[in-house]
Amino acid sequence: MYKRILLTGAAGMLGQYLRPHLHKRWPLRSCDVKPVGKPMKGEEVVTCDLSDRAAVFKATRGCDAVLHFGAISIESDFDQILQANIVGTYNVFEGARRARAKRVIHASSNHAVGYHLRDAFIDSDAQPRPDTYYGVSKSFGESLGSMYWSKYGIEHASLRIGTCRAEPIDRRSLSTWLSLPDLLQLVVRCLEAERLGYAIVYGQSNNDRALWDNGKVSHLGFRPQDNAEEYADRLLKNAKPEDPEDPAVKYIGGVFCTKKPPMWKG
Ligand SMILES: NC(=O)c1ccc[n+]([C@@H]2O[C@H](COP(=O)([O-])OP(=O)(O)OC[C@H]3O[C@@H](n4cnc5c(N)ncnc54)[C@H](O)[C@@H]3O)[C@@H](O)[C@H]2O)c1
Repeated sequence: MYKRILLTGAAGMLGQYLRPHLHKRWPLRSCDVKPVGKPMKGEEVVTCDLSDRAAVFKATRGCDAVLHFGAISIESDFDQILQANIVGTYNVFEGARRARAKRVIHASSNHAVGYHLRDAFIDSDAQPRPDTYYGVSKSFGESLGSMYWSKYGIEHASLRIGTCRAEPIDRRSLSTWLSLPDLLQLVVRCLEAERLGYAIVYGQSNNDRALWDNGKVSHLGFRPQDNAEEYADRLLKNAKPEDPEDPAVKYIGGVFCTKKPPMWKG
């Protein structure tokens, strides 16, 4: 179906997981500013900074789908976010348009909607309510995706990923966890679904304590298999009671909603 897929952020945690699985299915070009690792047979590996427009245009050339996972993936100084996540994401979309790509799948984040109340059970139509400059940059990517779909017909999914790890790590991630196999399923469905159009999808496993409603994008056929509840006893054994008025508890974005978010991913 695709002649070559570009994966940005290929050296990152999620990129390293996805790379071999994608490579089994489609010709792959893996790209990052950091070393990606030894190329697999038939894989193309490109080193490039997302803020370097000419390099990104070159990296997208010949690719008919893009998985845009490259980014500063935590809160950071605005100027750094601006270059890597905002300018970088524009470069990727514009490169994709020039390459006549059919689809761009963007790793957005729950932090694009981090200031919604946790118990609001928001769906794909939820307004952006970013909790950090990082969240603002993800919301920008969602807006670009909307514009490139409406104006140029490039199909798009923004994945509002929760906490994507091998296992959930704390109480919050009992709600927000996306297992790695469920991430792969989500990416593959976005690439293979007959109709993608413009889709906002929450990247979450089949968690009993899920915070988000993917009902409006059920046509993609994403059916997550894992459930964070299996880890609940272990994670809650020594957990302290929560203050429901603490912004880190009240809002979706957790500690990213505090005034000084610690520099951690999630
Ligand atoms: N892991 C999660 O729980 C989670 C949650 C929400 C969203 N996401 C998003 O998913 C994507 C992947 O996440 P991850 O956990 O693998 O993050 P990561 O930090 O491990 O990987 C990001 C990769 O992007 C690359 N990158 C950063 N700036 C760059 C630049 N200027 N030019 C080129 N490459 C650059 C980094 O070198 C890194 O390899 C990110 O966009 C992140 O924001 C992840």
